Amino acid sequence: MTRVFSGVKPSGALHLGNYLGAFRQWVADQQEFDCYFCVVDLHSLTVEQDPSQLRQATIETAIGFLSAGIEPDQCTLFVQSHVHEHPELAWLVECTVSFGELSRMTQFKDKAKAKGGESVRAGLFTYPALMAADILLYDTDRVPVGDDQRQHLEITRDVAIRFNNRYGETFVVPEATVPRLAARVMDLQHPENKMSKSDESPQGTIDMTDTPEQIVQKVRRAVTDTDGEVRYDPELKPGLANLLELMAAVTGRSVDEVASGYEQYGPLKADLAEALVEALRPVRERYARYAADPGEIAALLGQGAEKAASVASKTLARAKDAMGLLPRG
Ligand code: AMP
Ligand code: TRP
Repeated sequence: MTRVFSGVKPSGALHLGNYLGAFRQWVADQQEFDCYFCVVDLHSLTVEQDPSQLRQATIETAIGFLSAGIEPDQCTLFVQSHVHEHPELAWLVECTVSFGELSRMTQFKDKAKAKGGESVRAGLFTYPALMAADILLYDTDRVPVGDDQRQHLEITRDVAIRFNNRYGETFVVPEATVPRLAARVMDLQHPENKMSKSDESPQGTIDMTDTPEQIVQKVRRAVTDTDGEVRYDPELKPGLANLLELMAAVTGRSVDEVASGYEQYGPLKADLAEALVEALRPVRERYARYAADPGEIAALLGQGAEKAASVASKTLARAKDAMGLLPRG
């Protein structure tokens, strides 16, 4: 059966970009495939975290998966640090990937620049090796992610192919699945930046659990442009293009179809706000239900880790053996 793996970092409130870029694909995939969904807490340690907030965010992110519509009895849900095979295989991957390949990762270059060069954590540099390990441990065929993860998936494929060539068939070579629309949701206030979990732009970010009032207000204030003409042009009219793409993604229509239905920005914003309120309503309702019972979530994650480890331990053993590490007698 086709195997699916994906992960999200526990580093703040989940937003519309996570929902449309990642979760909606996960929810569709869970019906058909054998799915592993992971709260990748070790990845969060690549930047400063407050320990008690990280613990809280880990549970919150798991609640976010469920709120998005992940059914716990249809997939395996777990926390990365509960399965020690992840950092263990990451070392083997670090010894397969090159310094040059890691240096070319745009996410590393951007974040290193933003966080100030030399003081950046070594883990931020080796991040793609851990991500490759996450994916390869489960013999993953498909990885549903947003557009920003394409490059990380490419390096994962390169590593898998190289490892297999050097040491014999060991890993399945995975493929990224990126949604056709809303694979890169942009910030409503700064449409040149992608919407992200950082709390730097609260008005530009729609959280998955925002109230209808908050959604309406944020969409109404979304930055557009002054020429007033409704047409899809991501280069010249990035703010409007984002709104059109969001509308297309939530209604299932094409961008052109949406654009041709409006003469002015105001009515488009009003309809988009209403469509987003409706799309996120069940998410908000499930959130309230799951957040009331964190004990249930902890138990679920425990079972998930056990199941994940039973798969991961076999793959790790295969990789160690292929590389020539002596089995313990
Ligand atoms: P992160 O929040 O960075 O851990 O990302 C988790 C998942 O959400 C990944 O699959 C990302 O590609 C996806 N994602 C994050 N931000 C966006 C965005 N602005 N638009 C579309 N997908 C996104
Ligand atoms: N790097 C991903 C992000 O920033 C998170 C991630 C870690 C991931 N490991 C993964 C996504 C494995 C898919 C598969 O969003």
